[in-house]
Amino acid sequence: MRKPLIAGNWKMNKTVEQARLLVSEMVPELHTVDVDTVLCPPFTTLMAVSAMLVGTRIGLGAQNLHWEASGAYTGEVSPQMVAELCQYVILGHSERRTYFGETDTTVNKKVKAALGVGLTPIVCVGETLEENEDKQTAAVVSRQVKVGLAELTTEQAMKLVIAYEPVWAIGTGRAATAAGANAVLADVIRPVLAEMFGKPASESIRILYGGSVTAANAAELFAQPDIDGGLVGGASLKSADFIKIVKAALS
Ligand code: 13P
Repeated sequence: MRKPLIAGNWKMNKTVEQARLLVSEMVPELHTVDVDTVLCPPFTTLMAVSAMLVGTRIGLGAQNLHWEASGAYTGEVSPQMVAELCQYVILGHSERRTYFGETDTTVNKKVKAALGVGLTPIVCVGETLEENEDKQTAAVVSRQVKVGLAELTTEQAMKLVIAYEPVWAIGTGRAATAAGANAVLADVIRPVLAEMFGKPASESIRILYGGSVTAANAAELFAQPDIDGGLVGGASLKSADFIKIVKAALS
């Protein structure tokens, strides 16, 4: 059985002070809930948030890392630096692919580097609106999974999490339908994982849905057999909404 996981991607939001306030509202409600809950705030707030999560069941994740261990990479953060504070890291988010030139190949380097320091990567895949309209969803998502997870062992693959985030659903208020999202997971992503890592691994790897998840649509999305939780953007910045979304994964 796959345990549900809900991750909040704060993106480029919240100062340290604002982060402390948001986390202080969430911890009392979430620290005993039996859902793997992960907060992914900006790098500058990780220290402060990690101190607040000590002794809770809530995990901490970064939103990116560089694949090299150290060196002359101005502005970058190494896997080891992230692993000092976090258990998870979001990799290959569509905003990083679109605005910062990330490719399936760089995502693959990051996935390997993250696994190498014991982090759980949350690897994002998903088609654009144009690709969706061109009926390219299966081809695009298959390629992203195949290249992004290339050369991993089955044991490594079983440690990571995949997030299917159709780009057209991110921040638009237009979530995929529950059945539509489930179909991509069941008919595209799990079969590709089975081909790469075998059927048992494909059935044990958690796959999340992301893109306009709200307190109102979460329960229906998470009730789908192949959707193992959510990667939540905007609604993770409001404690009441995020708490409802995490609790929706319980039933
Ligand atoms: P929204 O929930 O704001 O649509 O963002 C989804 C997302 O990109 C999470 O990584």
